[in-house]
Amino acid sequence: MGTYAVTGAASGMGRATAERLRSDGHTVIGVDLRDVEVVADLSTPQGRTAAAAEVLDRAGGRLDGAVCAAGLGGVAGRDRAIQQVNYFGVVDLLESWRPALAAAGNSKAVVFGSNSVTLTPMVPERAVRALLDRDPEKALRAVGRFGKRSAPFAYASSKLAVTRWARRSAISPQWAGAGIRLNVLAPGIISTPLLEEQIAHGEKEAVEQLAVPIGGRGKPEDVGEWVEFLLSPAADFLCGSVIFLDGGSDAYFRTDDW
Ligand code: NAI
Repeated sequence: MGTYAVTGAASGMGRATAERLRSDGHTVIGVDLRDVEVVADLSTPQGRTAAAAEVLDRAGGRLDGAVCAAGLGGVAGRDRAIQQVNYFGVVDLLESWRPALAAAGNSKAVVFGSNSVTLTPMVPERAVRALLDRDPEKALRAVGRFGKRSAPFAYASSKLAVTRWARRSAISPQWAGAGIRLNVLAPGIISTPLLEEQIAHGEKEAVEQLAVPIGGRGKPEDVGEWVEFLLSPAADFLCGSVIFLDGGSDAYFRTDDW
């Protein structure tokens, strides 16, 4: 049985993942704003530093896996928080936990991306590059050009940046070479509080009209099962992959884009 850090473990897919791992006998160290082992605010550097350290302390410096599910949806008025949580809340924690993951020998990390990275038109490349360069003010200015409509771009650029960071890192000597498998899960429309918040904030039509070839919405429990699979020995040969779990939306919009 392993020890796993799971951010966003108080709700939605992070919670479903934590429940799934616990029910299979693993130890889970949840990180979130409430109702978990490590209560921390990942939108600030101090919160991230404290969260990373407390997890390492509780895990005894050895982690079999890490899952970064904490995230904020693209709701207006919080572009900065979206970038801080969705990008730095993943990168800073995983970089701090990397030695503990390496210490486990054969470990796994799963980052929550989003299918919005391919479905959102005109994701500002400048914002993506600024995040990868650790320049949040520049990233904010880049999405600020969209004015009141900036939130979806802040969201998609944060997810594209974290996906690119994960793919770059995954193949490096520090990750692949240290026996850590790092992959990205890119969900589509999944029934969680985050989705309900999007719908309540004017995205109802966009959510209902999005092409989902198999129809309906995904369930957080099914996503939790996928994450456990990505943490298992079955994923030993998976490295830097982006798995779209979206009922076919990405395939619909990018059918021949391969
Ligand atoms: P959720 O809202 O149910 O859970 C997200 C969790 O992150 C919450 O428990 C929340 O408290 C935590 N969180 C937010 N800000 C935080 C902060 N500053 N510090 C610590 N924790 C914080 O959302 P859901 O839907 O389960 O999302 C999980 C991941 O999947 C997110 O990264 C989201 O962007 C991504 N995603 C969700 C989709 C959906 O349709 N639900 C679609 C594509 C991606």
